[in-house]
Amino acid sequence: MNEHSGGHEHWETFFQDRQEMWGWQPAPSAQRAHDVFLSKNVKSVLIPGIGYGRNAQVFVDSGMDVTGIEISSTAIDIAQKHFGNRVTMYLGSVTDMPYDDKSYDGIFCYALIHLLDTDERKKLIQDCYHQLNDGGTMIFVAITKDAPTYGKGQKVGEDRYELHEGIKMYFYDLDSVEREFDAFGLQSVELITEQFPFYFITCTK
Ligand SMILES: C[S@@+](CC[C@H](N)C(=O)[O-])C[C@H]1O[C@@H](n2cnc3c(N)ncnc32)[C@H](O)[C@@H]1O
Repeated sequence: MNEHSGGHEHWETFFQDRQEMWGWQPAPSAQRAHDVFLSKNVKSVLIPGIGYGRNAQVFVDSGMDVTGIEISSTAIDIAQKHFGNRVTMYLGSVTDMPYDDKSYDGIFCYALIHLLDTDERKKLIQDCYHQLNDGGTMIFVAITKDAPTYGKGQKVGEDRYELHEGIKMYFYDLDSVEREFDAFGLQSVELITEQFPFYFITCTK
């Protein structure tokens, strides 16, 4: 597998060392995305950058058909032990999407898009939109410039910094959210503070 700006080796080592480090409680924004999806009668969900699946559980519990894409094989192993065949997992980078020819009612992408460079972010948004059913909803959770880490470390691009080796992060503001998502059904942007200040970005098709 190639080295991607998402830092394949970093994430593989990360999950080898720390395993289920975030536990199995979903992030608050996963719960929120779940509630949005439930209200829209979503039956199938794609989760790019699914990790070991802590955010997949809420969707599975509501009977939604969940598919994940993940770059770390260790994270996939943990997910497969936990979910068995209840979740379909593809090993690889989201930069190589699509992995199937299905379309989905809902897409939930948590804390992944800001790890990508400009072209990769653009391609991810396009690829997700392309795999969304008409009437479907895609939700991205992305770090904002209000994060204390914004501007720290080595500058590697406009609003993009490498604080930890191999991990480059792009920090969004409302202008960049609009610039990147407007052509892809942008409906709303809300601030949601979890371990970082995040934007909860909702798009519909
Ligand atoms: C900050 S973590 C969030 C994990 C997960 N969404 C969660 O909250 O449990 C980012 C995740 O994206 C994965 N990742 C990073 N770059 C990736 C890429 N280019 N393609 C697919 N997955 C990637 C990492 O291995 C990691 O699981």
